[in-house]
Amino acid sequence: MGDIIYLDHAATTPLDPEVLDAMLPFMKEKFGSASAIYYSLGHEARDAVEEARVSVARLINAQPEEVYFTSGGSESDNWAVFGVAQAKASKGKHIITSKIEHHAVLEPCHWLEKQGWSVTYLPVDANGFIDVEELRSSITDQTILITIMHANNEIGTIEPVEEIGKIAKERGIHFHTDTVQTVGHIPVDVNSINCDSLAISAHKLYGPKGVGAMYISKGSRVEKLIRGGGQESSRRAGTHNVAGIVGLGKAVKLAEKQMAEEAEKTTRLRDALIAGVESRIQDVRLNGDRVKRLPNNVNFSFEAVEGESMILMMDQPNRICVSSGSACTSESLDPSHVLMALGLRHEQAHGSLRMTLGKDNTEAHIERVLDVLPGIVQRLREMSPLYSQSR
Ligand SMILES: Cc1ncc(COP(=O)(O)O)c(C=O)c1O
Repeated sequence: MGDIIYLDHAATTPLDPEVLDAMLPFMKEKFGSASAIYYSLGHEARDAVEEARVSVARLINAQPEEVYFTSGGSESDNWAVFGVAQAKASKGKHIITSKIEHHAVLEPCHWLEKQGWSVTYLPVDANGFIDVEELRSSITDQTILITIMHANNEIGTIEPVEEIGKIAKERGIHFHTDTVQTVGHIPVDVNSINCDSLAISAHKLYGPKGVGAMYISKGSRVEKLIRGGGQESSRRAGTHNVAGIVGLGKAVKLAEKQMAEEAEKTTRLRDALIAGVESRIQDVRLNGDRVKRLPNNVNFSFEAVEGESMILMMDQPNRICVSSGSACTSESLDPSHVLMALGLRHEQAHGSLRMTLGKDNTEAHIERVLDVLPGIVQRLREMSPLYSQSR
């Protein structure tokens, strides 16, 4: 990646070269359809898809027949919300989720509300945690789905999913968890979480974009997603994206081997970055919990500074890629719903900077950020009427 310092791994990760090598034959000579099992070209594709299924299942401690390939995290989350809602509509029409879920969960919930469903959006505390007791007391005899993410993509807070899963199980309610930011980075075990479904996205763990997976526990009632051919046990029809699925399988295998080491390294770099920012720049707020936090996530709000301006100045001329919960990066005019749910003021949400680390980041990258960021913040504050006012 030349001299670029890439610190936006929560948005997407680079493709691991070993993943690319595993995929290429399935884009060239091994082009057969995984459904055409009457000749060897098709067989080969089918075997590769099934091998990937075994790898994904192993990483999350599931059975291979509980893993379904999809086009990514958004599709898996949509499938969970709509699929459970459709399958269980006759039992009840109440869903519990949180205010800080990804839009891939929130938007399907909003749509269902328009169709007459009721949805409880649990608030979070200042560090981003939902209150498990509040969740328990929100359950009614109409509740058919609880969907709470494992870890938040903006602030890195890790939710108490084991406790939530236990409550859902006791009450016989389907529990879906969005594990897009955790699978391949920290341990995810469907049995200890007690979830009925979870969402995976390949491009967040050094795999290709446009492919992912959905775990659905055996016997869980979730309506089919795409009707058509018999692929994916007739629940998600369509000719398999064989190269993509092979890429996901390889990425998952690599993650199994490298995850602990990567987490140890990114935690070290993360903590150095947090400490460095806090010691060199005044009037900053670390967003998200300090302890129960993704190993690779750093998210700060800088008083009286615009997130967009920081991103641009980090990129040009420094070639450091970061992101923000401010308007321009979220493709909407509103500040991040996650930061607002923490209780931040609009200006604080707009003044946020997210830096998410990956396996190729080094101490030198952190030093470089700590060299340039204080100057950028200072320059922007000098131009800001807000900062002089708040002094
Ligand atoms: C927590 C979370 N859920 C879902 C998604 C959507 O995943 P995909 O890009 O594979 O559709 C993302 C991606 O940003 C995410 O961070």
